[in-house]
Amino acid sequence: MRGVFGTRPYRAPTDPCCVVAVQNFKGGVGKSTVAVHLAQYLAIRGYRVALVDCDSQASATTLFGYVPDLDLGEDDTLYPFLREGERSSLDYALRKTHFDGLELIPANLRLFNSEYELAARMARGSDGLLDRLKEGVESISDRFDVIVMDPPPALGAISLSVLRAANALVVPVPPTVMDFSSTAAFLSMLDETIEQLAERGLAPELQFLRFVGSKVDENKSMQKELLHLMRTLFGHAMVRTPLKDSAEIDNATARLMTVYELDGPATSSAVRNRCLGYLDGVNAEIEVDIRSMWPSHQAALRKAALA
Ligand SMILES: Nc1ncnc2c1ncn2[C@@H]1O[C@H](COP(=O)(O)OP(=O)(O)OP(=O)(O)O)[C@@H](O)[C@H]1O
Ligand SMILES: [Mg+2]
Repeated sequence: MRGVFGTRPYRAPTDPCCVVAVQNFKGGVGKSTVAVHLAQYLAIRGYRVALVDCDSQASATTLFGYVPDLDLGEDDTLYPFLREGERSSLDYALRKTHFDGLELIPANLRLFNSEYELAARMARGSDGLLDRLKEGVESISDRFDVIVMDPPPALGAISLSVLRAANALVVPVPPTVMDFSSTAAFLSMLDETIEQLAERGLAPELQFLRFVGSKVDENKSMQKELLHLMRTLFGHAMVRTPLKDSAEIDNATARLMTVYELDGPATSSAVRNRCLGYLDGVNAEIEVDIRSMWPSHQAALRKAALA
């Protein structure tokens, strides 16, 4: 209907495309869950969205119903673009999904080869390789309002390339001591990495950095305390809505689906509605950050803030 009535919330052609990486070097913190639900939320809201699965474990790809190593070849992923110098666009890898306005660049295990190949070529002194993914993203960014990137859980060549390509970061952090301390390590590594990239004139230009409390279980007093500590530490950078641990997400994931595409509850309607509340809350806050990057949206944002 938005399409018909000409009220799609597209950015103006002069506004920058938002390239948001859902990043944390720690595994299992909810990166792929946040990335896929954010991409689908934005598509439902009417934006033109691309989701780039940069992780050879391909969790995001799986949530679109693919069996990555059966259904997809290596040429369907980022791999050929990262491997060869000749390709000038990532267009070949974009595929439509069952969400209107949402396109996907899938991943599979073959993408793991790029991790070694990029590292080896960088060791041989091939310069500018960390920029290859950025070039790829730029080759398709004209057509999208938002590009969401789901990187692998490691500080490798691909993660660094994602960092370089992104102009915004969302960092999911479960409020457990282990996840919190590894996020502290992630932040100092991020700091060092940005400095090193800056020395080579490659510093990422981040428009926003937001932390999301993920997999939160407020029945656990330690988690409540840590969440409070994170809010104190990160201040406004912390998304106010916590993404609570929900059986609805677990059950949807088990069906290789997301909460947004299930017609009815995978658990009970009360659990589903609460879960949709967390997801929509988190995503709506990030949507405001994204729109803040667009000069053409400033007036509408100010009006909404006053209302
Ligand atoms: N809020 C949540 N409630 C319940 N389960 C969740 C929640 N967030 C994530 N999970 C589950 O936790 C597991 C890990 O999540 P996910 O794959 O999103 O993490 P990740 O950071 O992308 O992991 P990796 O580092 O391996 O890429 C998945 O099984 C997912 O379904
Ligand atoms: Mg993941």
